[in-house]
Amino acid sequence: MQIDAVKAAYRRYARIYDTVFGPVLQPGRKAVLDALNLKPGDRVLEVGVGTGLSLQLYPRDVRITGIDVSREMLDKARERVARRNLTHVEGLLEMDAERMEFPDASFDKVVAMYVVSVVERPAKLLEELHRVCKPDGEIFIVNHFHSDNPFLGGIEKALSGFSSTLGFHPDFNLREMLPAGHNGEVSMSRVNLFWKILRLRNGVKHKKL
Ligand SMILES: C[S@@+](CC[C@H](N)C(=O)[O-])C[C@H]1O[C@@H](n2cnc3c(N)ncnc32)[C@H](O)[C@@H]1O
Repeated sequence: MQIDAVKAAYRRYARIYDTVFGPVLQPGRKAVLDALNLKPGDRVLEVGVGTGLSLQLYPRDVRITGIDVSREMLDKARERVARRNLTHVEGLLEMDAERMEFPDASFDKVVAMYVVSVVERPAKLLEELHRVCKPDGEIFIVNHFHSDNPFLGGIEKALSGFSSTLGFHPDFNLREMLPAGHNGEVSMSRVNLFWKILRLRNGVKHKKL
């Protein structure tokens, strides 16, 4: 999705996001937190942090930075941080995940929850996630990936014409994101029928896109 369409969609969603997408997406957020295996002092980046529904799930001895392109979603996240006194959140910044302002190798773990099917160029996003992650760090992506089931796949295709209104691509395919010949260590685990976690070890050189 083009960035203006993303901003418009999430400007509309911000007020109702937690009600509509809070509980339904929470199993994936919790599964990522379990998989992260965080150590005290780890620096974590969460891209597309939205209203910050995951922030209270992180242990208090790590340091989290969240970024998002939607000012309205970030406002909600800031309210949550203040309301719940989430002192482990170092910053919530308005920033495009495809063009981050962080230096290389800034974070131990980089997380993208339900974002890769929203951004304009998923492969460029992945390149940036690798760049800002430390060489021995890890990247975690939770998302819905295009279903191999012909029935579900057909529904996704039918819905794909409404991507801008929905605010994501229902038929997102992993091949749109991983560069040809990608040889990073990849593992995929299933959260449930809809959501999967993709785990990538950093230290893999990607072709410039
Ligand atoms: C489906 S929401 C997921 C929010 C949150 N991660 C969650 O678990 O509820 C997708 C979020 O990604 C943000 N987003 C989309 N494109 C982005 C980009 N290029 N850079 C940063 N954030 C982006 C949207 O503004 C929105 O807040």
